[in-house]
Amino acid sequence: MKFITVDTYAELSRKAANLIAAQILSKPECVLGLATGSTPIGTYDNLTKMYEEGDLDFSTVTSVNLDEYVGLDGSNDQSYRWFMNHHLFDRVNIDKANTSVPGGTVSDLAAEGAAYDAKIKALGGIDLQLLGIGLDGHIGFNEPDTRFIAETHEVELHPSTIEANARFFNDISEVPTKAITMGMGAIMQAKKVLLIANGPKKKEIVEKAFFGPITPEVPASILQLHPDVTVIYSIND
Ligand code: GLP
Repeated sequence: MKFITVDTYAELSRKAANLIAAQILSKPECVLGLATGSTPIGTYDNLTKMYEEGDLDFSTVTSVNLDEYVGLDGSNDQSYRWFMNHHLFDRVNIDKANTSVPGGTVSDLAAEGAAYDAKIKALGGIDLQLLGIGLDGHIGFNEPDTRFIAETHEVELHPSTIEANARFFNDISEVPTKAITMGMGAIMQAKKVLLIANGPKKKEIVEKAFFGPITPEVPASILQLHPDVTVIYSIND
């Protein structure tokens, strides 16, 4: 594991964008696993800038996102599909047909999960998976549990996650209580993993995840077993 500590969120965002850019430059037809949350926004801003300056071409990139809230469709501005369109896809020359986010409004979430895993497999897996980390150690929406779940699956969000994500909604009662998330299988099979975490509030969970015991009670701790993980932690927000 490469653990990089930086001072500022701006530095974290630049470094993360550079690593993603390096992936795209070295393999233009790569598969990127992408994440939502507030942390990757600066990374996406930097990638957009590189594209605007003519230094990055997304035309042959494919992306698969980690997760989606159950009950929100892509036109809802709280959905993760909307987030990705707004923060990255609509700003660069990626072909939207080559971007995937799990469907949160399908009637059969189990079938959606199986189809999502089959799609990732058919793509040859993920070249670089970008991750944030929840305050309870979740990656994607893989919440603390008694076991690691390999497949894309439906998940009941923990009260602490609902509370943490309420800041994006008008009222906590509007936060969906369920999500569909890529499981640990596709994440662990990604050739490279890049986890970004920002600020003092993430310090304790980052230490637990990367320097504590490997346990499904701290989902991100499984990454200690991945052969190519880079963590970028910024001390300040
Ligand atoms: C959500 C997402 C995660 C993300 C986490 C942390 O729960 N499902 O993928 O890592 O939030 O978000 P933030 O970056 O805003 O702290």
